[in-house]
Amino acid sequence: MISPLIDGFGRVHNNLRISVTDRCNIRCFYCMPADNVVFMKREKLLTFEEVERFVRVVARCGVNKLRLTGGEPLVRRDLHLLIERLAAIEGIDDIGLTTNGLLLEEQAQLLYDAGLRRINISLDALSAEKFEQVTRRSGYDRVIAGIRKAQEVGFDPIKVNAVSIRGVTEQEIVPFGRFARETGIEVRFIEYMPLDADNAWEREKVLFAREIVETLSREIMPLVSASDQPAHAPATDFVFADGVGRIGVIPSVSEPFCSNCNRFRITADGKIRNCLFSLEETDVRELMRGEASDEEILEAVRASIAGKWAGHHINAPDFVQPERAMYSIGG
Ligand code: 5AD
Ligand code: SF4
Repeated sequence: MISPLIDGFGRVHNNLRISVTDRCNIRCFYCMPADNVVFMKREKLLTFEEVERFVRVVARCGVNKLRLTGGEPLVRRDLHLLIERLAAIEGIDDIGLTTNGLLLEEQAQLLYDAGLRRINISLDALSAEKFEQVTRRSGYDRVIAGIRKAQEVGFDPIKVNAVSIRGVTEQEIVPFGRFARETGIEVRFIEYMPLDADNAWEREKVLFAREIVETLSREIMPLVSASDQPAHAPATDFVFADGVGRIGVIPSVSEPFCSNCNRFRITADGKIRNCLFSLEETDVRELMRGEASDEEILEAVRASIAGKWAGHHINAPDFVQPERAMYSIGG
């Protein structure tokens, strides 16, 4: 291995999140506008060959964990073929997928056979009505069918990500706690972040991680800190006191995990982002299409990582929301 991707604060970056499309088949209000979304033109998207090349280049400096995201990654045709290519790259030992689950029932087996094992399903509610309020579309039953299928096929781990929004998802906390206990699937509650296309985020709308832990502890049974905390994950994990049911919380707003961050991103249109909240990007698509060498691509990645800030400024008066919303950054 050549020297790792290290930033000015000594953080080693071994975790790459790859957005494969900005398209999505639902319209979660904390992410996308309701209508008239302008999507990236097809020719702007990195091809599977380009994604594979990029991963080969960064794998040489220690990137070993990948996660595919969107938009909704399963709307990108033949995604399993990309997974197969990425799984074959030397040095890559962990590939995950974050999906809304709507197309999972049909694709689960193909994805598993391609080498995927870790799957996160975004689901914010356990009722069709609330699901439709958040996503502005129908499809709750398909997501549940997708989760069942993922279990049948043998994905492990399967996690459910639920965004927590004050005034919207309070009633979902306890049902999700029960769901975690009944299914063995970890449910992770994510604090609502200012990455929505509508610019409607307000601090008052964040349902804080600590409130979730309090509610579950009071309404179901005490949660205790998990003995095996994931080292670089933004989540803090808990288990219910009887050992049944695992809950994670991601306090992105109330307790940012920036100081431990090991991740960077490439958008579907080939821009490196060294942080979810970056205001600057590095264009590798143009480098690749302009016949740049692997060395030149690597230099661009190194420069981007070297320029990473200490952490996001959500809690500071100088916070500026990035121009891209979540669906075009990749979650
Ligand atoms: N705040 C918090 N989480 C978000 N996600 C999308 N937009 C936001 C936001 N504004 C989540 C999705 C998914 C993951 C990719 O990011 O629900 O689980
Ligand atoms: Fe689609 Fe995910 Fe955005 Fe929801 S959060 S609209 S599922 S990309």
